Amino acid sequence: MKANATESTREFPEGFYWGTATSSYQIEGAWNEDGKGPSIWDTYAHTPGKIANNDTGDVANDHYHRYKEDVALMRSIGSNAYRFSIAWPRIYPQGTGAPNVKGLDFYNRLVDELVAAGIAPFATLYHWELPQALQDKGGWQNRDTAKAFADYAGFVAEKLSDRVRHFFTINEFRSFVDAGHQGHELQVPGGVITISLAPGLTLAPRELNQVRHHAVLGHGMAVQAIRAKGKAGTKVGPAEVILCGVPLIEKAEHIEAARIYTRERNAPFLTVMLEGKYTDTYLSESGKDAPQFTDEDLRIIASPLDFVGINVYKADVYVLASDAGSRWREIPYAKAQPKMHNKWLTLAPEAMYWAPKLVQSLWGAREIFITENGCASDDVLAEDGNVYDSDRVMFLRSYLTQLQRATADGVRVKGYFHWSTMDNFEWTAGFGNRFGLVYVDFKTQKRTPKLSAAWFREVATRNAVA
Ligand code: FCB
Repeated sequence: MKANATESTREFPEGFYWGTATSSYQIEGAWNEDGKGPSIWDTYAHTPGKIANNDTGDVANDHYHRYKEDVALMRSIGSNAYRFSIAWPRIYPQGTGAPNVKGLDFYNRLVDELVAAGIAPFATLYHWELPQALQDKGGWQNRDTAKAFADYAGFVAEKLSDRVRHFFTINEFRSFVDAGHQGHELQVPGGVITISLAPGLTLAPRELNQVRHHAVLGHGMAVQAIRAKGKAGTKVGPAEVILCGVPLIEKAEHIEAARIYTRERNAPFLTVMLEGKYTDTYLSESGKDAPQFTDEDLRIIASPLDFVGINVYKADVYVLASDAGSRWREIPYAKAQPKMHNKWLTLAPEAMYWAPKLVQSLWGAREIFITENGCASDDVLAEDGNVYDSDRVMFLRSYLTQLQRATADGVRVKGYFHWSTMDNFEWTAGFGNRFGLVYVDFKTQKRTPKLSAAWFREVATRNAVA
C-alpha cells in the first residue's frame, strides 16, 4: 500500500528480507538423537542450579521433529527469510573427525522445506554450541578450536550452499566469549548486571583476551573455508551484538563521540574484523594482558565480508562529546528509563538507527542485516485463546520506525530478523522469557501466533512500518 500525499512514507527498500530468527539449542530438542554429540550447553543445562527452574534444551520446542509445522507458521506470518543455526555437534559429534550424515540430513530437510515455502534460508554456523569434546581440550582457549570450526564451516557450506546463499559465521562473539568465560557486565537503569553463559568459566583478563582472539580468528578462517568450499556467490558475514553508543543530541560533535565510542568498544570483535587491527587504545589498556597474535592472524581475521550482521536490542550507552575534545562522555541511563520485561532490555529504539548507520560510516559495510531484535514479555493466553502482546507491538513499531529512517537515509540494510520466531529456551532464564511472535505451550507443544505475529505479517506484506 502506498502512502498518500499527506502521509510520510514508511516503506523499506524493495527486496527487503523480513525474517524471524532462532538458534538450534533453543528450539531443536533431540539433544542426543541421530548420533548428535553433547555440546557445552547440554553439559551446562544438565548441571543443577545453572538454569532457572533447572530447565534444559533436551526437548525445547521439539523443532527437530516439528520443523514442517514451524516452517508453515513462518509462511503464515509473512516471512520471506529465516535465520536458524546449525548445531556443530550434530555434524561433528566430537567436533572434528568423521561427519555424521544423519545430523546433516536434518538441515537438508529443513532447508528444502524452507525453499519450497518461498523462505530464504540464512544459516548461522555457531550459536554457542561448542562440542563438549572440544571444550575438554580447552575449548576456545585452544587455538586449534578456530581451525576445527573452519573445517566444520567449510563442510557445511559445501553441502548446503546450493540452497543456502547466506551464512553467518558466529553469533554474538561478545556474549559467548565474555559471558561464557568471565561474566559480561551490562549497563542498566540504576546500575550494572552480570550475565553468565556456558561454559561458565571465570578466566583472568589475559586468558579472556586470548579467547576473544581465537574467536575472531575462527571467524576469519571460517570465512575463507566457506569461500573455498561454497558455491560461487555464497555470501558470508558475522552476526555480532554491537555495543552501540547513541548520541543523546543529534549534532556533529556528539555523533562523532558516538562513532569513536562504538569503534573502541567493539575493538576485540567487529573493529578488528573490519579493520584488520586491534585499536591502539585496546592494546594499551590491555597492557600485559593483550592477546598474542601475528600479522598473519590479523589478515585472516579481516578476510573480506559480503555483509555485516548486527543484533540490536538496546543502546550500550548514551553519549555526548566530552569537553576534552573528540572522546566521548557516557551518560548513564536515568533510573526511570523505560525497560522491557528483561532487566537488561532498556528501551532505546534510536539504537536501531545508529547501529547500522555507524557500521556503514565506520567500516563502509557493503550490506547490513539486523540479525536479531525483539523483546521478551510475560505473555499469557487470554480466555479467548489469543495472546494480546501490545507491549511487543509497541517495542517493534518503535524500533522499526528507526530502521526505516536508516534505510531512508541511505544505510544499506537489506533485511531484518525478529528474535524470535516462537517462544523458546532462553539460556539461563530457561523457558521463563518468552521472546516469540508465536506463543508455545511447552507441555503440549501447541503453537499460537500472538497479536505481534499479525502485526509482523502486516509489515512484511506491506514492506512498511504498520
Ligand atoms: C541474544 C542471543 C539469542 C537470544 C536473544 C534474546 O543475545 O543471541 O540467542 O537469547 O539474545
